[in-house]
Amino acid sequence: MAVILRKRPPAARHAQEQKGDVLLNIVLIGNMGAGKTSAGRVLARRLGRVFIDMDEYIELKEGKSVGQLFEPGEENFRRAEARAAEDISRLESCVVATGGGVVKNAANMQKLSRSGIIVYIKRPPELVLASADMRGRPLLRDKPERLYEIMAERAPLYEKYADFIIKSTGTIEEAAEKIYQKIQELKI
Ligand code: S3P
Repeated sequence: MAVILRKRPPAARHAQEQKGDVLLNIVLIGNMGAGKTSAGRVLARRLGRVFIDMDEYIELKEGKSVGQLFEPGEENFRRAEARAAEDISRLESCVVATGGGVVKNAANMQKLSRSGIIVYIKRPPELVLASADMRGRPLLRDKPERLYEIMAERAPLYEKYADFIIKSTGTIEEAAEKIYQKIQELKI
């Protein structure tokens, strides 16, 4: 039977890893356009772990796009997101890219934190607005500058839940590399 590792001292975790037991998930949080999905893919490949994009999981599970789930109102999407957080928190050894709003629900974060290490990818809004595609993001589609407001609101939550923070001002590969190095250092 699989063993779920709780957060524990690095040395103990390392010993488990040597034995081939399952590992903690690596859960990426941060604002829309911070690069969670792209950096997560690169990181998962590098670590040889399964990658899960939470929005993609929600779309497959619900049979609707994020945009469609927002149509009856944001709450409808948030309920689907909470169901996905519940499912994903039961997985092990994965790299998970969450949606930017996952931190709005404390229960989501309680579950995801129990399943893994939470990494906050912190990217300045100017860089996000210069590079990210807002078309599939209902909260920013009509007014991308809303990102400043949303970020100010959520920054304390990202900081509160993060086990560690990665500042991302360069490329996706650089962000993934920083996370990789930190994971090696902590022997997660
Ligand atoms: C949201 C972020 C999106 C997606 C949805 C809501 C948010 O994911 O979950 O549009 O509230 O920040 P990304 O962070 O991948 O854009």
